[in-house]
Amino acid sequence: MSALFEPLTLRSLTIPNRVWMAPMCQYSADDRGPGLGTANDWHFSHLAARAVGGTGLILTEATAVSPEGRISPGDLGIWNDGQAEAFGRITGFLKEHGSVPGIQLAHAGRKASTDRTWRGGHPLRPEDGGWQPLGPSPLAFSETHPVPAELTQQQIAETVAAFADAARRALAAGFQVAEVHGAHGYLIGEFLSPHSNRRTDHYGGSYENRTRFAIEVVDAVRAVWPEELPVFFRISATDWLDENPEEERTGWTVDDTVRFAGDLGEHGVDLLDVSSGGNAPRVRIPTGPGYQVPFAERVRSETSLPVGAVGEITEARQAEKIVADGQADAVLLGRELLRNPYFAWQAARELGAEAAVPDPYHRAY
Ligand SMILES: Cc1cc2nc3c(=O)[nH]c(=O)nc-3n(C[C@H](O)[C@H](O)[C@H](O)COP(=O)(O)O)c2cc1C
Repeated sequence: MSALFEPLTLRSLTIPNRVWMAPMCQYSADDRGPGLGTANDWHFSHLAARAVGGTGLILTEATAVSPEGRISPGDLGIWNDGQAEAFGRITGFLKEHGSVPGIQLAHAGRKASTDRTWRGGHPLRPEDGGWQPLGPSPLAFSETHPVPAELTQQQIAETVAAFADAARRALAAGFQVAEVHGAHGYLIGEFLSPHSNRRTDHYGGSYENRTRFAIEVVDAVRAVWPEELPVFFRISATDWLDENPEEERTGWTVDDTVRFAGDLGEHGVDLLDVSSGGNAPRVRIPTGPGYQVPFAERVRSETSLPVGAVGEITEARQAEKIVADGQADAVLLGRELLRNPYFAWQAARELGAEAAVPDPYHRAY
């Protein structure tokens, strides 16, 4: 019996196994014209291949709720109906092949308007095809990033509404999970952390104020997402500032995450996808196999919220142990699934579980 290949039911949605694909930007949409921010053949084949490979749940890359919420000019978006329609072909294929399609709804905040990572990921000025990034406070992410424009309360309200509109379109496009991207130092994470949020209104200062924007987004998404389908929230469990004592000790911490997980559960979030980092450029992060799993485990043991673990999970037995030992309810794989789209059914075979090798491939086994 494999714990990794036990289905997981959240609300009324049953996810066939616990090997999930982490959201990963492809920076491969058109950056202008009618295909702007719209899924194309690259996104189809990229996501479809992981469904063919038996991945239980597949999350799209960070999909921008507004044009200025893109990380790069080539990001996917879901701020218009044409973008939603283009996703329909993908969600249909994923479901037909037994995977659950999920979308990560995102706004890049002060880290918006950067070049594609393989071109260095540098900030792009408006004259080079970039735009003015927005953030909770006029504080740049790094010396090379521009100072973001501080969001007005009116713009905050518009951004919350943009998340709701995006969720409504995602549902129409056939997605069954909506994940709110609150991690990695993008807009929602920027509000959470005192490192990036220095507001003096009711969106900054105390824990309640810094978490207000995230909760408003969750409430807005939950209000349009059906009762029977789950909402996830991706968090950076820590900015790694307090773990790096030479840095200013003003970050979001694991204790904050545990507390916030309780709040998110009360606001209808069904699973916390536990990542870390991304809000401070120079912190040292002790990466290694499963290095973020202890954060997921802490949330799971101290709250009643289901969790996903992510980060350097690359082997079937490692993934099996994380789920079997109760450290997480599911694992999300990023780079390993880029290397090997067939990870899930190969892992199933290795673990002696039911392997959903697609019929047209049966002669290979
Ligand atoms: C190419 C690439 C793109 C990524 N894009 C996103 C993203 O859009 N949203 C997000 O939350 N994380 C993103 N990440 C982080 C991954 O989801 C994952 O958390 C990270 O890669 C660690 O998992 P891994 O060690 O299995 O790759 C990205 C990672 C990679 C490698």
